[in-house]
Amino acid sequence: KKRVAIFISGGGSNMVRLVEDMADPNHPAEPVLVLANSADAGGLAKAAAMGVPVVSVDHRPFKGDRPAFEAALQAELDKVTPDILCLAGFMRVLTEGFVAPWEGRMLNIHPSLLPKYKGLHTHARALEAGDAEHGCTVHMVTPLLDDGPILGQARITVQTADTPDTLAARVLTQEHKLYPACLRRFAAGDTTRVDL
Ligand code: GAR
Repeated sequence: KKRVAIFISGGGSNMVRLVEDMADPNHPAEPVLVLANSADAGGLAKAAAMGVPVVSVDHRPFKGDRPAFEAALQAELDKVTPDILCLAGFMRVLTEGFVAPWEGRMLNIHPSLLPKYKGLHTHARALEAGDAEHGCTVHMVTPLLDDGPILGQARITVQTADTPDTLAARVLTQEHKLYPACLRRFAAGDTTRVDL
Protein backbone atom coordinates (compact mmCIF):
# COMPACT_ATOMS: atom_id res chain seq x y z
CA LYS A 1 0.00 0.00 0.00
CA LYS A 2 1.03 3.60 -0.60
CA ARG A 3 1.83 5.45 2.63
CA VAL A 4 -0.10 8.72 3.06
CA ALA A 5 0.62 11.67 5.34
CA ILE A 6 -2.06 14.35 5.76
CA PHE A 7 -1.47 17.98 6.79
CA ILE A 8 -4.35 19.85 8.47
CA SER A 9 -4.87 23.15 10.30
CA GLY A 10 -8.39 22.88 11.72
CA GLY A 11 -11.30 20.54 12.17
CA GLY A 12 -9.99 18.11 9.61
CA SER A 13 -13.29 16.93 8.14
CA ASN A 14 -11.59 16.19 4.80
CA MET A 15 -8.82 14.29 6.61
CA VAL A 16 -11.47 12.20 8.41
CA ARG A 17 -13.07 11.27 5.09
CA LEU A 18 -9.70 10.29 3.60
CA VAL A 19 -8.85 8.11 6.61
CA GLU A 20 -12.33 6.52 6.60
CA ASP A 21 -11.98 5.68 2.93
CA MET A 22 -8.52 4.16 3.48
CA ALA A 23 -10.02 1.81 6.10
CA ASP A 24 -11.25 -0.25 3.12
CA PRO A 25 -8.85 -3.23 2.87
CA ASN A 26 -8.95 -2.89 -0.92
CA HIS A 27 -7.79 0.75 -0.83
CA PRO A 28 -4.38 1.22 -2.46
CA ALA A 29 -3.18 3.52 0.37
CA GLU A 30 -2.96 3.71 4.14
CA PRO A 31 -2.63 6.69 6.51
CA VAL A 32 0.72 6.88 8.34
CA LEU A 33 0.60 10.38 9.87
CA VAL A 34 -1.68 13.37 10.47
CA LEU A 35 0.27 16.56 11.11
CA ALA A 36 -1.17 19.91 12.21
CA ASN A 37 0.52 23.29 12.50
CA SER A 38 -1.15 23.83 15.88
CA ALA A 39 -1.75 21.54 18.84
CA ASP A 40 -5.27 23.08 18.98
CA ALA A 41 -6.32 21.69 15.60
CA GLY A 42 -9.51 19.76 16.29
CA GLY A 43 -8.64 17.17 13.68
CA LEU A 44 -5.74 15.79 15.72
CA ALA A 45 -8.03 14.14 18.29
CA LYS A 46 -10.22 12.75 15.49
CA ALA A 47 -7.19 11.21 13.75
CA ALA A 48 -5.88 9.74 17.00
CA ALA A 49 -9.32 8.26 17.73
CA MET A 50 -9.15 6.53 14.34
CA GLY A 51 -5.76 5.07 15.26
CA VAL A 52 -3.62 7.29 13.05
CA PRO A 53 -0.32 8.64 14.48
CA VAL A 54 -0.52 12.42 15.00
CA VAL A 55 1.98 15.20 15.54
CA SER A 56 1.82 18.99 15.75
CA VAL A 57 4.51 21.34 14.52
CA ASP A 58 3.52 24.83 15.66
CA HIS A 59 4.52 27.44 13.09
CA ARG A 60 4.42 30.31 15.60
CA PRO A 61 7.79 29.78 17.37
CA PHE A 62 9.45 29.98 13.93
CA LYS A 63 8.35 33.63 13.70
CA GLY A 64 8.06 33.70 9.92
CA ASP A 65 11.21 31.68 9.23
CA ARG A 66 9.48 29.47 6.65
CA PRO A 67 12.55 27.40 5.69
CA ALA A 68 13.08 26.46 9.36
CA PHE A 69 9.37 25.61 9.82
CA GLU A 70 9.41 23.55 6.65
CA ALA A 71 12.58 21.71 7.76
CA ALA A 72 10.69 20.73 10.92
CA LEU A 73 7.74 19.49 8.82
CA GLN A 74 10.07 17.49 6.57
CA ALA A 75 11.82 16.00 9.64
CA GLU A 76 8.46 14.59 10.81
CA LEU A 77 7.80 13.19 7.33
CA ASP A 78 11.25 11.59 7.23
CA LYS A 79 10.30 9.55 10.33
CA VAL A 80 7.32 7.93 8.56
CA THR A 81 8.53 7.90 4.90
CA PRO A 82 5.22 8.65 3.16
CA ASP A 83 4.77 8.07 -0.56
CA ILE A 84 2.01 10.68 -0.84
CA LEU A 85 1.37 13.93 1.04
CA CYS A 86 -2.20 15.28 1.16
CA LEU A 87 -2.92 18.85 2.20
CA ALA A 88 -6.43 18.94 3.69
CA GLY A 89 -7.29 22.41 4.94
CA PHE A 90 -3.63 23.16 5.69
CA MET A 91 -3.57 26.95 5.93
CA ARG A 92 0.18 27.66 5.76
CA VAL A 93 1.76 28.57 2.44
CA LEU A 94 4.58 26.14 1.56
CA THR A 95 7.60 27.47 -0.34
CA GLU A 96 9.35 25.96 -3.31
CA GLY A 97 12.09 24.55 -1.06
CA PHE A 98 9.55 22.25 0.61
CA VAL A 99 7.29 21.62 -2.37
CA ALA A 100 9.84 20.83 -5.10
CA PRO A 101 11.04 17.49 -3.64
CA TRP A 102 7.37 16.44 -3.25
CA GLU A 103 6.24 17.50 -6.70
CA GLY A 104 4.15 14.77 -8.29
CA ARG A 105 3.44 13.21 -4.87
CA MET A 106 1.60 16.04 -3.08
CA LEU A 107 -2.15 16.75 -3.42
CA ASN A 108 -4.29 19.66 -2.21
CA ILE A 109 -8.01 20.38 -2.02
CA HIS A 110 -9.12 23.93 -2.70
CA PRO A 111 -12.68 25.29 -2.24
CA SER A 112 -13.19 26.77 -5.71
CA LEU A 113 -13.31 25.69 -9.34
CA LEU A 114 -9.65 26.40 -10.09
CA PRO A 115 -8.21 28.32 -11.87
CA LYS A 116 -10.88 30.63 -10.43
CA TYR A 117 -10.34 32.09 -6.95
CA LYS A 118 -6.91 30.98 -5.80
CA GLY A 119 -6.19 31.99 -2.22
CA LEU A 120 -8.73 32.86 0.46
CA HIS A 121 -12.45 33.86 0.69
CA THR A 122 -13.37 31.76 -2.33
CA HIS A 123 -17.10 31.51 -1.51
CA ALA A 124 -17.57 35.26 -1.07
CA ARG A 125 -15.67 35.90 -4.29
CA ALA A 126 -17.80 33.43 -6.29
CA LEU A 127 -20.96 35.11 -4.96
CA GLU A 128 -19.67 38.59 -5.68
CA ALA A 129 -18.84 37.58 -9.24
CA GLY A 130 -22.41 36.32 -9.72
CA ASP A 131 -21.20 32.85 -10.72
CA ALA A 132 -23.94 30.32 -11.54
CA GLU A 133 -21.59 27.46 -10.60
CA HIS A 134 -19.09 26.96 -7.81
CA GLY A 135 -17.27 23.99 -6.31
CA CYS A 136 -13.96 22.48 -5.31
CA THR A 137 -10.80 21.15 -6.90
CA VAL A 138 -8.22 18.50 -6.06
CA HIS A 139 -4.88 19.19 -7.73
CA MET A 140 -1.25 18.22 -7.62
CA VAL A 141 0.81 20.79 -5.75
CA THR A 142 3.47 22.81 -7.52
CA PRO A 143 5.44 25.74 -6.07
CA LEU A 144 2.75 28.17 -7.38
CA LEU A 145 -0.14 28.69 -4.92
CA ASP A 146 -3.32 26.74 -5.78
CA ASP A 147 -1.89 25.80 -9.15
CA GLY A 148 -0.78 22.50 -10.66
CA PRO A 149 -2.43 19.69 -12.64
CA ILE A 150 -6.10 19.17 -11.76
CA LEU A 151 -7.07 15.65 -10.64
CA GLY A 152 -10.76 16.37 -10.10
CA GLN A 153 -13.54 18.90 -9.59
CA ALA A 154 -17.01 18.82 -8.05
CA ARG A 155 -19.62 21.42 -8.98
CA ILE A 156 -22.61 22.90 -7.22
CA THR A 157 -25.25 25.33 -8.50
CA VAL A 158 -25.33 28.72 -6.81
CA GLN A 159 -28.84 29.62 -5.53
CA THR A 160 -30.11 33.19 -5.22
CA ALA A 161 -30.44 32.87 -1.43
CA ASP A 162 -26.85 31.62 -0.97
CA THR A 163 -24.46 33.29 1.44
CA PRO A 164 -20.73 32.51 1.78
CA ASP A 165 -21.63 30.18 4.67
CA THR A 166 -24.32 28.22 2.84
CA LEU A 167 -22.01 27.89 -0.17
CA ALA A 168 -19.13 26.74 2.04
CA ALA A 169 -21.32 24.05 3.59
CA ARG A 170 -22.52 22.69 0.23
CA VAL A 171 -19.02 22.78 -1.25
CA LEU A 172 -17.62 20.98 1.83
CA THR A 173 -20.12 18.15 1.31
CA GLN A 174 -18.73 17.80 -2.21
CA GLU A 175 -15.15 17.98 -0.96
CA HIS A 176 -15.88 14.96 1.23
CA LYS A 177 -16.76 12.96 -1.89
CA LEU A 178 -14.17 14.39 -4.27
CA TYR A 179 -10.99 14.08 -2.22
CA PRO A 180 -11.37 10.37 -1.35
CA ALA A 181 -12.25 9.60 -4.99
CA CYS A 182 -9.15 11.44 -6.24
CA LEU A 183 -6.79 9.91 -3.66
CA ARG A 184 -7.99 6.40 -4.52
CA ARG A 185 -7.24 6.92 -8.19
CA PHE A 186 -3.98 8.73 -7.60
CA ALA A 187 -2.66 6.07 -5.19
CA ALA A 188 -3.45 3.45 -7.83
CA GLY A 189 -1.34 5.38 -10.35
CA ASP A 190 -4.36 6.71 -12.25
CA THR A 191 -4.39 10.47 -12.85
CA THR A 192 -7.57 10.43 -14.93
CA ARG A 193 -9.73 13.39 -13.97
CA VAL A 194 -12.62 12.86 -11.53
CA ASP A 195 -15.73 14.99 -12.18
CA LEU A 196 -18.61 15.06 -9.70
C1 GAR B 1 -11.91 23.02 3.32
O1 GAR B 1 -13.02 23.69 2.79
C2 GAR B 1 -10.72 23.14 2.37
O2 GAR B 1 -11.06 23.09 1.02
C3 GAR B 1 -10.22 24.51 2.74
O3 GAR B 1 -10.33 24.57 4.14
C4 GAR B 1 -11.41 23.73 4.58
C5 GAR B 1 -10.87 22.77 5.61
O4 GAR B 1 -11.91 22.05 6.22
N1 GAR B 1 -8.87 24.68 2.30
C6 GAR B 1 -8.35 25.85 1.97
O5 GAR B 1 -8.95 26.90 2.02
C7 GAR B 1 -6.89 25.79 1.55
N2 GAR B 1 -6.42 27.09 1.22
P1 GAR B 1 -11.59 20.72 7.05
O6 GAR B 1 -10.49 21.05 8.05
O7 GAR B 1 -12.88 20.41 7.73
O8 GAR B 1 -11.16 19.66 6.08
